[in-house]
Formats: sequence, structure tokens, C-alpha cells
Amino acid sequence: MYLEETHIVNFRKHHDLTYVPSQGVNLVYGPNGSGKTNILEAIHYCSLAKGMNRSLDKECLKFDADYFLLKSRFTDKSGRETAVKVTYEKSREKKIVVNNEELKKFSGIIGKIPCVTFTPYDLGIVNGSPQERRRFIDTALSQSYRTYLDNILQYRRVLQQRNALLAHYAEDRQITTSFDIWTEKLAHLGASIIQERLSFIDRLENVVKPLYTELGLEEIPGFRYHPSSGRITGGMSKEDIEASILNRFDDIAAQEIVRQQTLIGPHRDDMIFTVNGIDARKYASQGQIRTFLIALKLALQRMIGEIIEESPVFLLDDLFSELDENRIDRILHILEGSGQSIITTTEKRAFGAAECINIEEIV
Ligand SMILES: Nc1ncnc2c1ncn2[C@@H]1O[C@H](COP(=O)(O)OP(=O)(O)OP(=O)(O)O)[C@@H](O)[C@H]1O
Ligand SMILES: [Mg+2]
Repeated sequence: MYLEETHIVNFRKHHDLTYVPSQGVNLVYGPNGSGKTNILEAIHYCSLAKGMNRSLDKECLKFDADYFLLKSRFTDKSGRETAVKVTYEKSREKKIVVNNEELKKFSGIIGKIPCVTFTPYDLGIVNGSPQERRRFIDTALSQSYRTYLDNILQYRRVLQQRNALLAHYAEDRQITTSFDIWTEKLAHLGASIIQERLSFIDRLENVVKPLYTELGLEEIPGFRYHPSSGRITGGMSKEDIEASILNRFDDIAAQEIVRQQTLIGPHRDDMIFTVNGIDARKYASQGQIRTFLIALKLALQRMIGEIIEESPVFLLDDLFSELDENRIDRILHILEGSGQSIITTTEKRAFGAAECINIEEIV
């Protein structure tokens, strides 16, 4: 997938700009605070209907403006064009129009414009809370498989229902007959989600390992899924995973009533990243964590590209900070062979056929 052009109006610090990247590696350079990250965020909006780093629509509205407008044109490898328009007006819900058709649900855009990001904020995926790792894997899988996204959305609705019934029980001690039905539904959807996640991280691990070699690293990265619902392992069938979840629900029934919450399932699972078999979250150095994250995102871009047969647009914010020249060169070499990437950096840098542009020339 290639971004042909993006037009940004009243978004963050930008009043009105048009950016036309090349189809290969793009470097946007400029001093701190010049609005480089803002441009990546605008592109991210057109791909995933939201800003980066969980920012709110209203925070992206230029301080003195009443609305923002983003227009991007993308083409896929067969040359088919997708035009995305995002508009937001103060105190109103944003509107997203894809090829002249307004989306009824924002989730409708997910997967249409595949996009992978690397931002310093993403370090939390490696060393932050389990929620950040779940968000990472859910976004990756949702862009790869529509059914996964549907299952996740449905799972959240069922989870809400079941939690509401648990809260209700705490009040009047009446467990409704529908409770078991919600439990079964949740276990059924949960098993699908977990099975997809297991096979995804297995595959991702196999892509990350050779990337470590390409980056000139001797360490061996690894992933382990950490289920909250008992013994679940890679080769298990969906039915077995479901049975395991249901068993565990029986075991913790009393606890769930006290806590008024569903305590097991994919919404409570975690993933452990390892370097040479050791838990990266607890023992890896800052540099190792950063390298791990870069390799992880490079692997993700490659893998989504293989699954959907379309290379995602790759947005890399402040990629070079804290990396030595050798590492930077290797990363750029990898990026040269993998579709379109847009990298922000504070220093001008010449590299192969990369298109290097001063942000002053765009704004
Ligand atoms: N809603 C907004 N309205 C106006 N200006 C904003 C808004 N949100 C952020 N900014 C401004 O945008 C600037 C930050 O832009 P951005 O983060 O893109 O810079 P950058 O070039 O990536 O800098 P760095 O190199 O430090 O990462 C800040 O000066 C900030 O005050
Ligand atoms: Mg920045």
C-alpha cells in the first residue's frame, strides 16, 4: 500500500500542508517541535481512524481552529486507489469517508489501509503493562484478518454483558439463567481469539529471529503466550481451549462473584518477550528493549504484508535516536526492500535512494 498524497488542515500545529512521499523510504527531517510527528499522526488517522499514542480527536484539533480535515490518497500494488477523508468539528463526532462513502462504524476502515507504526511510546509494548501487549497483538491481527476484528468486537460486547450480570448478582443474589449462556459464548469466542493469537505469535517469532541476524545481532528473541485461563498451549484445538476456559470458569466462580468481574480470558492474557530466553520486561537494557521493538515492528510489517499480500505503510517516528550508525544503516537496508516507509528524524541524512525532505519545504 502506498500513500500518494496527504493533505492536512488545522491538525495539531499544521494549518494547511500537502505532503507527497515517494513509494520507497522517506525521511522527513526538522528541529524539535517542527511538526514531524504531527504528520505521521495525520496519516495514522487515515489508516486506523485515530491518532497515535491514544490521543483524543479534540487534542488533535489545532488550538485556534473549529475543525480539522485530513485527506489522503492511497494506491495498492495493483494500482487501485482508495481516498480517505477524515473531518472533525469541535464537540461533534468525527466523520470518515472512504471513496465517497461515509463509514457507519470507524472499525470499518481497519484493514483497508494497512499501516504499521514505530514510535518511542511503543516501548511500552515490551516493558509496559499487559494491556499494551494485548492492544499490539489485537491491532496487528485485526489488520490481518477481518474475522479476528469481528470476534474481538463481539467478545467485548459479551464480556460487558457478563460483567453486568456479575454486578447484578452482587446486588440481589439472583443469578439469571442467561448467565451460563453468556459464559459459553465468551468461552467460545475467547477460544478463537486465543488460538489466532497463538498461531500469530508463533509465526511472528519465526520472522523476528532472522531479522535479528539481519540487524547484526547475536541474541535470540522469543515470544511466549501467557494465558489467564489455565493450561493452554500452541498445538491445542479450539475445542480443547474452550473446554479449558470453561473448566477454569467453574474453578473461579466464587471469586468472580466477589470481584464482580470476569477474571479469565483473552482480555486478561499476556505475552512475554524474551531475549536469549530471559524475560525482556524484567531484565533487558534500554538499548535491548528498543532494538527488540524495532525488530518486532519490522517483523510485523513483513508478516502482515505476507498475510494480506499488500505491504503496510510503515510510519517510523524518531527512529534513529539512541541508535549507532551501523544499526541505522542496517535498518534502512531492510526498509529499502519493504514497501513504503516514512521516517521522522531531527538530522538530515543521505541514504541510497531514500527521499530526504526538510519539513520547512512542506509546511
Ligand atoms: N492541537 C494542537 N494545536 C496546535 N499545536 C499543537 C497541537 N498539538 C500539538 N501542537 C504543537 O505541535 C508541536 C509538536 O509537533 P511534533 O510533535 O510533530 O514535533 P516534532 O517535529 O515531531 O518534534 P520532535 O523532534 O521533538 O519529536 C508542539 O510544539 C506542540 O505545541
Ligand atoms: Mg516528534
